[in-house]
Amino acid sequence: MNPATTPATTSATTSATTQPTRDARFITFEGIDGAGKSSHIDFVASLLTARGVQVVTTREPGGTALGEQLRTLLLHQAMHLDTEALLMFASRREHLAQVIEPALARGDWVISDRFTDATFAYQGGGRHLSIDRLAQLEAWVHPHLQPDLTLLFDVPLAVARARLDNNGQLDKFEQEQSTFFADVRNEYLRRAAQFPQRFRIIDSTRPMDEVRRQLTTIVGAE
Ligand code: TYD
Repeated sequence: MNPATTPATTSATTSATTQPTRDARFITFEGIDGAGKSSHIDFVASLLTARGVQVVTTREPGGTALGEQLRTLLLHQAMHLDTEALLMFASRREHLAQVIEPALARGDWVISDRFTDATFAYQGGGRHLSIDRLAQLEAWVHPHLQPDLTLLFDVPLAVARARLDNNGQLDKFEQEQSTFFADVRNEYLRRAAQFPQRFRIIDSTRPMDEVRRQLTTIVGAE
């Protein structure tokens, strides 16, 4: 389940008294498949909207008409691993140009269900592509932009697997073996340790209301 609509949508109050109170922020949600991040995106968006913040909710791969076509290919079509990484960044380039950068320039807050950390985790960690090469693509596609806040939903592999197996139809990534997800998770955790100022790790095995309280505190500080 992914709550991001296609393409990105803007939700906000229209009252003249509820102008954005803070500078624009870019918030990303990350985690291995089955970590449960998607169920919390609408919650965080509604917290911000209640504060009078103009929020754009979007996702990767996807978020634009072209990006959603690339997403269909990426999630269902076998391809060379370099092609996969390049298409992730192609989708991202379009997404930045059409959705993310204009929204931030307007002063809106952007919530993206995955961004470049996912490429480092999945294509770098999971597929074992060179991290340096991915960093070169990152420097090409968004040299001056990083998320202000990255919420990493973390769960043990067995918990994630059980959630996925309850979901029915699995895409190309979800069908990967547990070693793949172990590598993806490790790379996410490595990046969280590397960039502690923007990463917050959420223990996604905790009950929903506890996770929501934690998210309220974290986002409230933004
Ligand atoms: P996901 O965001 O989990 O959507 P859903 O909840 O609808 O399954 O699915 C996107 C998949 O794409 C996920 O398995 C991770 C993968 N992915 C990458 O491999 N690299 C990337 O750069 C991105 C953004 C996603």
